[in-house]
Amino acid sequence: MANVLVTGAAGFIGSHLAQACLEQDHRVLGVDCFTSYYEPEIKRSNIRHMQDRPGWEFREADLANADLAELLDGIEIVFHLAAQPGVRASWGQTFGAYVDSNVTALQRLLEASRAVGLERFVFASSSSVYGDAERFPTTEDTPLQPISPYGATKALGEHLCRLYHRSHALPTVMLRYFTVYGPRQRPDMAFNKLITAALRHEEIVIYGDGGQTRDFTFVRDAVQGTIAAAVDGHPGAVYNLGGGARTSMNEVLEMIADLTECKLNIRRVAAQAGDARDTAADTSRARTQLSFSPSRTLYDGLREQVEWHRRRTPLVAGPSAVRRLGAGRIPEAV
Ligand SMILES: NC(=O)c1ccc[n+]([C@@H]2O[C@H](COP(=O)([O-])OP(=O)(O)OC[C@H]3O[C@@H](n4cnc5c(N)ncnc54)[C@H](O)[C@@H]3O)[C@@H](O)[C@H]2O)c1
Repeated sequence: MANVLVTGAAGFIGSHLAQACLEQDHRVLGVDCFTSYYEPEIKRSNIRHMQDRPGWEFREADLANADLAELLDGIEIVFHLAAQPGVRASWGQTFGAYVDSNVTALQRLLEASRAVGLERFVFASSSSVYGDAERFPTTEDTPLQPISPYGATKALGEHLCRLYHRSHALPTVMLRYFTVYGPRQRPDMAFNKLITAALRHEEIVIYGDGGQTRDFTFVRDAVQGTIAAAVDGHPGAVYNLGGGARTSMNEVLEMIADLTECKLNIRRVAAQAGDARDTAADTSRARTQLSFSPSRTLYDGLREQVEWHRRRTPLVAGPSAVRRLGAGRIPEAV
């Protein structure tokens, strides 16, 4: 049993991580400032079911200016997931939010952690640091060539973690998540948008020709790898966490049509600047050192996400369409 800090605890992955830590009997302090990047009420609902659980404590605080010494008091493991996500939104005037949350907040947390004697500081990085990678599957020592401002802030975050490890012996471990999906997925992410549109019989917009591929990672697998990194991750090391299969967006569309039993109304528009054409993780290092082993096929993981959407989407489509009660309400978290 350990005292763990989960930053970004009300977010998509952070809320699953906090829940998994509680299930393993750790004491969890969750921190989040409910940024308005997407509906804060969705984030509040992500953690509502944990509020009475023994071992759970939550503070609303912005890590870019909060009193971090107080938050870190007694903490043994930091899982730093708080960030401003989103590749496309990172261009233009909104970049300041990326610097505040992905660079300044991280640097403050690393600096404050020096005084604490942590067992591990686990940092959520991203496959976006690779940009259009030179090789697939991509190993961790591939040169970092981000093609979006978001990816650049994550690459800088990794450099900061490495610096604090080398210069101050902080036991930082970096994880490169590859497109995570599953229940509670962020509403700006592709699967959430596609499934929602399918169930509501709305138009689905696809960027590019649909031939772009991703290594999709089920959220509970990402969480399992994250917890393992806090125990077995080598300080100073970086690990890819990917689902293990490369799938095109067109194949995903077929799966979603099958699982939702809906005919998709697709409109194709030009690919967006900052989107990598393909991603594929070489997870050999995580498999060897973290016993990382993805538990689901993409189809089975998508089935869980579709079921979650059905529970929360007011209009459910399909041959036996059912009109659900509670249209517009924010649903319960799973
Ligand atoms: N979802 C993915 O596919 C994916 C892929 C690669 C990397 N990541 C990384 O994983 C982490 C979690 O991503 P997610 O998809 O769950 O995103 P999310 O937006 O759902 O969660 C991030 C949370 O951090 C909080 N936050 C942001 N800035 C903060 C600050 N300054 N102080 C306190 N809280 C703050 C937000 O309110 C949000 O609840 C992020 O670091 C993200 O960059 C995610």
